Amino acid sequence: MLSYMILHTRIETCFLVNSISQSVLDSEMLNPSDVLFNHTCSTLSELDMEMIRAVPEGGNWQNIPTHVIKKSARLTQIRKSGGRTTYYGRMKDNLPSYTINTYFNRPGNGTFIHPKQDRLISMREAARLQSFPDRFRFLGSRSSRYKQIGNAVPPLLAGAVAKLFKPGKVVDLFSGAGGLSEGFVQAGHEVILAADSNSNMCETYAYNHPTTKVVQADMHVQSDSLKLLEEIERALAGKQLDVLVGGPPCQGFSTAGNRNASDSRNRLVFGMLDLVRSLQPDAVVIENVPGLKRMQNGAVLNAIDNLLRIEEYSVAVLVLKAEEFAVPQRRRRIFVVGQKERAIPTTPKKYLASIVRGRTRNDVSLATENLPPPVNVSEAISDLPPILSGCGDDIIEYQSDWTDTDYQRLMRESISFDYFIAKRTEQG
Ligand SMILES: C[S@@+](CC[C@H](N)C(=O)[O-])C[C@H]1O[C@@H](n2cnc3c(N)ncnc32)[C@H](O)[C@@H]1O
Repeated sequence: MLSYMILHTRIETCFLVNSISQSVLDSEMLNPSDVLFNHTCSTLSELDMEMIRAVPEGGNWQNIPTHVIKKSARLTQIRKSGGRTTYYGRMKDNLPSYTINTYFNRPGNGTFIHPKQDRLISMREAARLQSFPDRFRFLGSRSSRYKQIGNAVPPLLAGAVAKLFKPGKVVDLFSGAGGLSEGFVQAGHEVILAADSNSNMCETYAYNHPTTKVVQADMHVQSDSLKLLEEIERALAGKQLDVLVGGPPCQGFSTAGNRNASDSRNRLVFGMLDLVRSLQPDAVVIENVPGLKRMQNGAVLNAIDNLLRIEEYSVAVLVLKAEEFAVPQRRRRIFVVGQKERAIPTTPKKYLASIVRGRTRNDVSLATENLPPPVNVSEAISDLPPILSGCGDDIIEYQSDWTDTDYQRLMRESISFDYFIAKRTEQG
C-alpha cells in the first residue's frame, strides 16, 4: 500500500501535510521532480455535496434521489427534459474519463466527480487526464487555470500529430497554456514563438516554455496582428518557418455551445490563415472541435480548405480520438493539416484501442483492433494523495514510491513515451 494512504483516514480538515511554500521552492531546496503542482479542487455547496454523495462510480444525475433533485431548479429541469447522461457524472476507475472541459470546477456540466472520493477532480488530476506531465505548472487566477487545462490540446495527442512532420521550427498561435506546443516539443520540434491575447495564458506558457518567445497579442486587433507578424519574422531571422500551428477559440463551433455562425471568435481562424499567406510555412496545423465540420453546413471548413489550396498546400482533415494516443480521456478533436511538399497521411499511428459506446452510458467495449487497451482513470491518477472537497494545495511534496503505474511514471517523466508504448504493446 502507498505510504500516503495512512493519511486518508486522518484528513478531517482542509489541509494537506507536506505542503511546500513557493519561497522554499524558489530557493531550490527541493528538486522540482519531488513536487506536485496544482493538486487542489473546487469547493462545493452543501446541496452539491448531497448530490455527488448519491452518485456511485460510473453513475450520473439519474442516481440522485427525487427529494434531492427537487431542491435544485437546474436538476429538476434536467430531469424534465432528459439531460445528458454525463451531467453530475462520477468517473469510472477502469475506463478513460469523459472529455475534460473548462467546467470541471462544477459537477453539473460533465463527468468530473472523483471515482472514489466525494469531491470534484483536482486541477492536477484533470491535467493528468489531459496528459500534461507533472512538471507542467498552471499559473494565474483560479478560473483561468480551469480554462487553461480544459481548453488545451492533450500533449500526447498533439505529439501524435507533430510526428507527421520532420522536427523543425514551430510558431503556435492561440497558444493558451501550451498543450499543443508541449506535444510538438515532446516530438522534437522547437517552438520559437507563441501568441495569445490572455495574460494568464501567457504567464503559464512562459513558465513552462522558458526558451520560447511569448507574445501577448489580440488577433482581432489589426495593429496587434501586424506586430505579431513582425515578431515572428524577427524570431525567424531569415529562416524558413517549418510548421504554423494554432487552436483558434472553438466556442462558435462547439456542440456544447450554440454553433453560432456570427460569433466573432469564428473569424479568428481566418486571421491565422492571413499569417499563413504572409509566412508561407512548410506546413500548417489548425486544431479545433469536430463541430467545425458541420459549421454552416460545412462552409467554414470548405473555406479553410480552399484558402490553403490557393496557397498550394495539400490538405487533410483528421478527426482523432485522444484515447488511441494514450490520453486517458475520451476526447475527439479535428486537425486540419496543410503541407506544401507532399500529401499527408490520413491518420497518425494509433497506439491503443478506442472506446466504442453501446446503447447505454456504461455499455462500452473496445474497438476490435489488435491494440492494447486505452489508459484508464485509475492508471492515470491513483497515486495522487486523497484530499477533501474544496481542499488541496498548489505545491505539495511528491514521494517517488507513490508511483504505481507506467502511465504515472510517464507523467513523472521517469520513463519515455516509446518505452511506455513498447511495454503496453508487449503486455497486450
Ligand atoms: C482553445 S484555446 C487554445 C489551447 C491551446 N492550443 C493549448 O493546447 O493549450 C484558445 C486560446 O485562444 C485565445 N484567444 C481568444 N481570443 C483571442 C484573440 N482575439 N487573439 C488571440 N488569442 C485569442 C484564448 O485566450 C485561448 O487561450
